[in-house]
Amino acid sequence: MIEINQVTKKFQDKKTYVTAFKHVTFTVNKGQVVGLLGENGAGKTTLLRSIATLLTPTDGSISVAGFDTVKNSDSIKRKIGVLFGGETGLYDRLTARENLEYFAALYGMSKHETKVRIEELAKMFGMKDYLNRKVGGFSKGMRQKVAIARTLIHNPDIILFDEPTTGLDITSSNVFRQLVHQLKRDGKTIIFSSHIMEEVSMLCDSVAMMHKGELVHHGSLEALYKSEGSRDLNYIFMSKLVRGNEDYAS
Ligand SMILES: Nc1ncnc2c1ncn2[C@@H]1O[C@H](COP(=O)(O)OP(=O)(O)O)[C@@H](O)[C@H]1O
Ligand SMILES: [Mg+2]
Repeated sequence: MIEINQVTKKFQDKKTYVTAFKHVTFTVNKGQVVGLLGENGAGKTTLLRSIATLLTPTDGSISVAGFDTVKNSDSIKRKIGVLFGGETGLYDRLTARENLEYFAALYGMSKHETKVRIEELAKMFGMKDYLNRKVGGFSKGMRQKVAIARTLIHNPDIILFDEPTTGLDITSSNVFRQLVHQLKRDGKTIIFSSHIMEEVSMLCDSVAMMHKGELVHHGSLEALYKSEGSRDLNYIFMSKLVRGNEDYAS
């Protein structure tokens, strides 16, 4: 379970403060898949980084699997897998297998355990043919698969993906979508940010919508469709943003 409790994150930029998001509160239950929606600059990446213990909230608190992200970050790190858009965290000079072995070692996994897990992931992602090739020569889609495999190497219960399909072609996006279904069947808790409403409506149980650093909606997709009288998430999102802006103006 992830509990985000009245969290605000401000960055100091020279003498001014930039508020990435403020007073965000919501809970994600075990086994839920949550879509984090918002325009560029809404605060999605900063929120995911805060949940991943990589940033300290300016105010409020976040707990992940019962641990506080500031006080118990080490306990959380072992339980979560994180993948941030753009940065795959892979070493070009190493093969896909060596990259995965490197990260497995960081988690203290045994040689045998690592071998079995790499086989499993390679099968899952159809990476067997290029496991022993250097990542430097990989296409974007191949890289992304290895990056996702890296995120899952230690079989984490909680997974955070920041815009996992942005810039991927349709085949690689579909691999990601199948993966989320699989992880959901395995009872994993997932939060992922996305611009793609179709993807969110297909994969998620609930959505958290951010707008200019505020949480404008959180709840189950079904409840949202019901209350908005529409199943068109794109339309709902846009109308929420317009209403959000009106609230700011008033
Ligand atoms: N390290 C940082 N220093 C200063 N401002 C930042 C930093 N990281 C993010 N921000 C600001 O916080 C806001 C939210 O950014 P971000 O979380 O990246 O949004 P999103 O991922 O939704 O596009 C933006 O105004 C951004 O400029
Ligand atoms: Mg972002």
